[in-house]
Amino acid sequence: MNVEKIREEYFPITKKIKFFDTANHSPPSIPVQEAIRNYLDDWDNLDRKGDQRTLETIESWSRLIGCNKDEACFQPNTSSGLAVVSEILRFKKGDSIIINDLENPANQIPWLAQRNKGVEIRIIRGREGYVHLEDVEKAVDDSTKAIALSQVEWMSGGRHNLREFADLIHENDGYLVVDGIQAAGALKIDVKKDKVDFYANGAYKWLLGCSGAGFLYVSKEHVANMDPQLWGYRAVEKHSLDRPYLKPTAKKYEFGEPSYLSTVGTKAAIDLMLKLGPSQIETQILKLNQRLYDGLSFLGAKIVTPEERKYRAGIVTFNTKNNLDTISTLKAEGFYISLRAAGIRVATNFFNNEQEVDKLLENVRKQGV
Ligand SMILES: Cc1ncc(COP(=O)(O)O)c(C=O)c1O
Repeated sequence: MNVEKIREEYFPITKKIKFFDTANHSPPSIPVQEAIRNYLDDWDNLDRKGDQRTLETIESWSRLIGCNKDEACFQPNTSSGLAVVSEILRFKKGDSIIINDLENPANQIPWLAQRNKGVEIRIIRGREGYVHLEDVEKAVDDSTKAIALSQVEWMSGGRHNLREFADLIHENDGYLVVDGIQAAGALKIDVKKDKVDFYANGAYKWLLGCSGAGFLYVSKEHVANMDPQLWGYRAVEKHSLDRPYLKPTAKKYEFGEPSYLSTVGTKAAIDLMLKLGPSQIETQILKLNQRLYDGLSFLGAKIVTPEERKYRAGIVTFNTKNNLDTISTLKAEGFYISLRAAGIRVATNFFNNEQEVDKLLENVRKQGV
């Protein structure tokens, strides 16, 4: 992967700042900006082709995560995708659902809300920055209908082997629901190989797209068997006041008109990643992540992110003796990074380079850990 060419051609923002904040939001790439400008021109000519473009965007996303386009639909964000799933599973009194304390609230709230139906929510405590399969195993019993899990955790950066969790819950005839927003675009995703039942992610982080666009994957067996509880007009194949027919695809989980501006920008971002190659992107991200991890451990920083490589993706979160001082010095030095409750969260992306990582480490060293 020619990182310098990628920076020059697609991410000129890298000339101005050292952008390590994809876990918070995407930087505006040239293809995304151009797609939005072109869309504005088309709109000016009253030729938006919004629905067609949204379908194309969903198709690009389905290629990125390895599913059929009929198993994918538009959602405005991760939360709405997860909320749709929490409803279509039609939990009942006596069921249990497994979540964990490392999740973003987006993947806790829809499940906690099921308590008012008499559903038990079992909350696993993450250890060393990730959810241990054996801890979940102990919590599963005959009542367990679903495990909700992030592929990559938002604060610790811990990464999960989805296939293992899928196999576990499928033995129980339950479902694996995945929040993919910290993973899709960073890792090579294959929802089929991993036997994931539902996968939701917004576009504004590692997908390098826009706020207002997101996606939901529902495997085809579930599309056939699970109807939405809340119906929007986009769910319906044929409008009829006598009998509205639901679409036979995952589009039946859509409601109304999407943000076309967001979908066109997002398509440009996904297509760029498909062109560069998801495996190559993952390799570059993991390489920089390792460099950062090794450098921080050499300096003696308190790292929250798991040490074992297989439990890591694009995030390293660490603490110094004074996080506020460290982050403000880094900002003054032109680094764009987030401070979260768990520590200073650095997202290494494929448009970052080794010099930037080394500069970051040098600054942390000067500040002291
Ligand atoms: C893991 C994770 N899930 C969900 C969200 C929120 O997603 P959305 O705004 O797309 O609903 C975030 C945002 O930080 C996140 O990190």
